[in-house]
Amino acid sequence: MTVYKKDTKPFRMIAKTLFGLEDILADELTALGAQNIKPMNRSVEFYGDIKLLYKANLWCRTATRILKPIFNFRAGNEHDLYSEVFKINWRDYFNPNQTFSIDAIINDSGFNNSLFVAQKTKDAIADYFRQKTGRRPSVDVRNPDLKINLYIYRDECSLALDSSGEPLFKRGYRTRTGEAPLNEILASGMVLHSGWDKKSPLVDTMCGSGTIVIEAALLARNIAPGLTREKFGFMNWPGFDKLLFRKIQDEAYESIKPKLDFKLVGSDMSSEQIQVATDNARRARVGRDIVFKQSEFSDFIPPDPPGTLIFNPPYGKRMSVEDIMNFYQSIGDTLKQNYSGYDAYIFTGNLDAAKHIGLRASRRIEMYNGPIECRLLKFEMYQGSVKTKYQNPENTE
Ligand SMILES: C[S@@+](CC[C@H](N)C(=O)[O-])C[C@H]1O[C@@H](n2cnc3c(N)ncnc32)[C@H](O)[C@@H]1O
Repeated sequence: MTVYKKDTKPFRMIAKTLFGLEDILADELTALGAQNIKPMNRSVEFYGDIKLLYKANLWCRTATRILKPIFNFRAGNEHDLYSEVFKINWRDYFNPNQTFSIDAIINDSGFNNSLFVAQKTKDAIADYFRQKTGRRPSVDVRNPDLKINLYIYRDECSLALDSSGEPLFKRGYRTRTGEAPLNEILASGMVLHSGWDKKSPLVDTMCGSGTIVIEAALLARNIAPGLTREKFGFMNWPGFDKLLFRKIQDEAYESIKPKLDFKLVGSDMSSEQIQVATDNARRARVGRDIVFKQSEFSDFIPPDPPGTLIFNPPYGKRMSVEDIMNFYQSIGDTLKQNYSGYDAYIFTGNLDAAKHIGLRASRRIEMYNGPIECRLLKFEMYQGSVKTKYQNPENTE
């Protein structure tokens, strides 16, 4: 049962992520010592040993989960799928006292129902255990001991163990959120995309539950995002090396920067949101690194430049077209008035409204917020040369 102890040689892993963050995640994996890194669509393939698997779970700010593929096979119909899954020596991976669940994803395949595919896979695993041991493990979709991932592209099937369990964006610090909170991975990805120097002020003037500034503080203080989590999927794997993982955690604690020489600032017009953000920051153990302040966007005066502003304004679903256009125009006006010397990043899913900002974006990064196509737009607010930027709104997109 101790298959993982043998994993001293590099093996293949897949880190899943969100669209637009693949290259950022590849850089994170490079820094952790991963080999043969290949960014793909919403994922990054890489190689490494079990130590790297533990580290990737603890340290990757932009991965949703780390998968360890265990078996590839071809199956064009349910019978082949069942018999191929049944063939695997599942006792190497878990025992019938443990619970499991299957996440199935199908892409351009003869199978057209991922729930059906998951059910067949589950049946094959349960029947395997019943035949070998006389007992079958139970399925627990909410909190399983072992999460198994099945990906089918055409008739190519790949089974993988999910070493993360709960997705990695569940950092554990955010228990209360506001309206439309950002996924932690997306927020972290924006900060990393911005290339912020971790030395000058970083501001979010519509901070809601504080995700952007909290992720920025974790980054600047070199706090591993997984340090607040108690559970990872790999902890239930046979051969889990508790000592090795504890050592990796201890090293992560030792590498934390005790304090920052500058402040991060979060503001929002809602006092309730400011309270939520303050509580979240405290739980993330970066409460002292961030100043939260209730303020209307147009009234807020940022710290002296140079600095970085990153924020995600409402997309205006509940506003009239005219109001949302005026709102985005006023954002542009405030940027021109108050933010010279700043790099301003606006993340929005309202691409039409963004044209009314009235500034030329020097970078446009395509990302998704759930199903919504978004852009992270960069506006360089040069000191003293605002005029050169203040033109041609059609160029925003
Ligand atoms: C999409 S939410 C931001 C979510 C945030 N990034 C998070 O992770 O929770 C937009 C936020 O902008 C704030 N807001 C809207 N208009 C504002 C304004 N004119 N001035 C300041 N804050 C504003 C709202 O109160 C809301 O919290």
